[in-house]
Amino acid sequence: MADLRTTFAGIRSPNPFWLASAPPTDKAYNVVRAFKEGWGGVVWKTLGEDPPVMNVSGPRYGALHSADRRVIGFNNIELITDRPLQLNLDEIKQVKRDWPDRAIVVSLMVPCEEQSWIAILKRVEETGADGVELNLGCPHGMSERGMGSAVGQVPDYVEMVTRWCKQHTRMPVIVKLTPNVADIRPPAMAAARAGADAISLINTINSIIGVDLDMMAPLPHTRGVGTHGGYCGPAVKPISLNMVAEIARTPETAHVPLSGIGGIEGWRDAAEYIALGCGNVQVCTAAMIYGFKVVKEMISGLSEWMDAKGYATIDDFSGRAIPKVTDWRHLDLGYAVKARIDQSLCIKCGRCHVACEDVSHQAITREVNGVRHYEVIDEECVGCNLCASLCPVENCIEMVPLAVGDVDVRTGRTIIEEPLPWDRHPANPMARVAAE
Ligand SMILES: Cc1cc2nc3c(=O)[nH]c(=O)nc-3n(C[C@H](O)[C@H](O)[C@H](O)COP(=O)(O)O)c2cc1C
Ligand code: SF4
Ligand code: SF4
Repeated sequence: MADLRTTFAGIRSPNPFWLASAPPTDKAYNVVRAFKEGWGGVVWKTLGEDPPVMNVSGPRYGALHSADRRVIGFNNIELITDRPLQLNLDEIKQVKRDWPDRAIVVSLMVPCEEQSWIAILKRVEETGADGVELNLGCPHGMSERGMGSAVGQVPDYVEMVTRWCKQHTRMPVIVKLTPNVADIRPPAMAAARAGADAISLINTINSIIGVDLDMMAPLPHTRGVGTHGGYCGPAVKPISLNMVAEIARTPETAHVPLSGIGGIEGWRDAAEYIALGCGNVQVCTAAMIYGFKVVKEMISGLSEWMDAKGYATIDDFSGRAIPKVTDWRHLDLGYAVKARIDQSLCIKCGRCHVACEDVSHQAITREVNGVRHYEVIDEECVGCNLCASLCPVENCIEMVPLAVGDVDVRTGRTIIEEPLPWDRHPANPMARVAAE
């Protein structure tokens, strides 16, 4: 049976599934319920200075739905905790006492002044919490007040605040980054330079979830006026995975433990983050939409998959996919695949033909000998994966690689053993010059 226990930035937890700082971790009542369901840890909803902030008393959430009304993207204009600081601290202390085997990390956001950080760190330390997470990522409301992403978007500020915290607390310091930057590496490097014990990412993405076309106002709106909010949920996972991979494969940050956040709904999402270098994961939207019980499937699914793959611990596969992430120029241009349609599964809907026809490859038939029939024309197929991506029948279209020695009938080229990246490709004039 796989061992799911983790030690992340020196913080132990029985499994890698933590609740991210958000409404599910806003008070003891929720956190205790979450722990009863099996969550390994929580990052408490971000604390700030008193007096507490005020939220709007109206819609603060919005959703992007799939055709079957599943929530695939989620947006919020909520601020940090709106409960008094001491109330939160008392509850954190009590919950940590009652649940010593679970991780309790406290998310913090105070003005960008050293004294403010010193003061709050001291009070959090007294609770016995396992660590702090610096919220340098909230993109709405708080950023207008010079906090959250207003700090996280400036690497010098990230470094400065992280240094203060490292200097003034013995607790592990996790730096939570904002994705609202052109390149995630500079803020990650700044956190690493300042000695962050770990980096977590992502916080939410700047967004307008939709427009109310009757009111002619962005959603969600308050008295007919709206503002941008933070986007999360399944739709943001690809963005976060890329940022995680960038940090994991950058020499200056590769050594820093990573906590993966964004769109995690099940064990497979978590396994993907861990494969790209994360030591644990955090979940918000899935818990808000489906409840705390989702962790049960995450624990059993991950455990069963690890058993099947022969991974005894999380460390056994953490980071295994990083060496396979590379730059485009290193991809093998001598490799070729062709789409293959399994005629026994095909329901003859024609979607693959329409897409391939209109996307300029014209590589799927519609009729053969006057009969409706969808088949790939190898002479035209560039192996782009569009048809397989849109076919409504799972596994009906497979992308099959040509073997070494096969001739690609589209290009006339024989597939060779040796990879042929762009830097060495005969079609690259610079490669030709270098070879001469
Ligand atoms: C309603 C809501 C409130 C949030 N509040 C906070 C917060 O106070 N502090 C914080 O660091 N992140 C906050 N987040 C961001 C989440 O912790 C998380 O980074 C983000 O939602 C991505 O994860 P997900 O796709 O699993 O939701 C909030 C997210 C939501 C949806
Ligand atoms: S999209 Fe799939 S099911 Fe539809 S015709 Fe093409 S192969 Fe058949
Ligand atoms: S892989 Fe691309 S080019 Fe080939 S048949 Fe499918 S859509 Fe057409």
